[in-house]
Amino acid sequence: MAFKIGLLGLGTVGTATAEILLNPQKRHPLLQEIEIQRVGVRSPDKSRDVQLPPDIITTDLEAIVSDSSIDIVVELLGGLEPARSLILKAISHHKHVVTANKAVISRYGSEIFSAASQAGVYVLIEAAVGGGIPVIQPLKHSLSANRINRILGIVNGTTNYILTEMAAEGSDFADVLAEAQQLGYAEADPTADVDGFDAADKIVILAETAFGEQVELEDVHREGIGKVSALDIGYAERLGFAIKLLAIAQDSPATPDSLEVRVHPTLVPKDHPLASINGVNNAILVEGEPIGQVMFFGPGAGGGATASAVVSDIMNIAGILQTCGRTETPHPLLSTAPQQQCSVTPMEKLVTRFYARILCVDYPGVIGSLGTCFGRHDVSLESIVQIDFQNGLAEIVVVTHDVREGNFRSALDEIRNLDAINNVSIPSVLRVL
Ligand code: HSE
Repeated sequence: MAFKIGLLGLGTVGTATAEILLNPQKRHPLLQEIEIQRVGVRSPDKSRDVQLPPDIITTDLEAIVSDSSIDIVVELLGGLEPARSLILKAISHHKHVVTANKAVISRYGSEIFSAASQAGVYVLIEAAVGGGIPVIQPLKHSLSANRINRILGIVNGTTNYILTEMAAEGSDFADVLAEAQQLGYAEADPTADVDGFDAADKIVILAETAFGEQVELEDVHREGIGKVSALDIGYAERLGFAIKLLAIAQDSPATPDSLEVRVHPTLVPKDHPLASINGVNNAILVEGEPIGQVMFFGPGAGGGATASAVVSDIMNIAGILQTCGRTETPHPLLSTAPQQQCSVTPMEKLVTRFYARILCVDYPGVIGSLGTCFGRHDVSLESIVQIDFQNGLAEIVVVTHDVREGNFRSALDEIRNLDAINNVSIPSVLRVL
């Protein structure tokens, strides 16, 4: 029995997906049952790195999603539209869908999965998070016996590359970004990566998969890496930390019916498994009960790696169709059930450790004044050290114990306005894992 694919998009991932499907030798035998029926592209005359019969290529993307001969639509166009509409249209025509589109799934996942559930089709999204790293299917299948408490990951390769280079070279963000753009590691417009938008999309998808609740993208607290300085990376290193852009979703101890979902640069203790993930790699650490910690590591982007995830989703669907045929009841470990809306903990209620770098006029007792002010706001300090001078000002680095974020911010506001401390500025505030 052959399964017919309608492929939307023949960019880097689409081309790599077609290459796998056209070369099934020495791969799983099920691949031999999968055929590319039609391919939808926006620019038919563009030269391609993959050999496909010209008569299966079309610019009529709508015709593909409604083609009765097609079983599985593979959406690799990227962007919000027409991708979202084409996915919904494919579902309405009872096609199964495989997509790598994190932007669409993080915003419209609920609408898409509800439509899929009603139509009795699968929408699989392994390639939307972590490129080639299997994490969505393991969360749904292999870890399904566990209560997941926390997912934290390095899910953006560009920012991890930049932070790794900053640490290795002692260079500042802007210089490393410019170099990464020259080398093709960072986009000409790096906003989605460096400001944490890409990681926010991915943590929404991971949170929804792991916790089975719908997370609104706008509820996710997001900070990028633009304000991380070489100085902070150096101090973090001396204190025993690496700075990483972490995407975190976890049960909230402060508000038991809520989840914490956030993306921000974080000081990670050097003996933590995520501290040693360097360069463009991604890693996702899942913590559950009873399993403990499981970490997934690998290439988070790239045509071949992402195509590996896309084709595994296609094969999952083909395998089910081959053994069960088309059924009204989707496989419960493969489908995504409609989800209830999740409440996300406001950041002021977060309980975490902080690192802050404070500049102020040096005088006897300044550290005491700072300590007293933190104490007034119930902020307990793990360490407070005067490390250096910058332009004649004392540079004081503070690391707290676990504190309520709201209290810490109030303490910083008071410090900025304390008469006893002159010329105070707080160039860096970062959370500590
Ligand atoms: N731009 C992303 C990254 C890959 O740098 O990891 C695609 O999600």
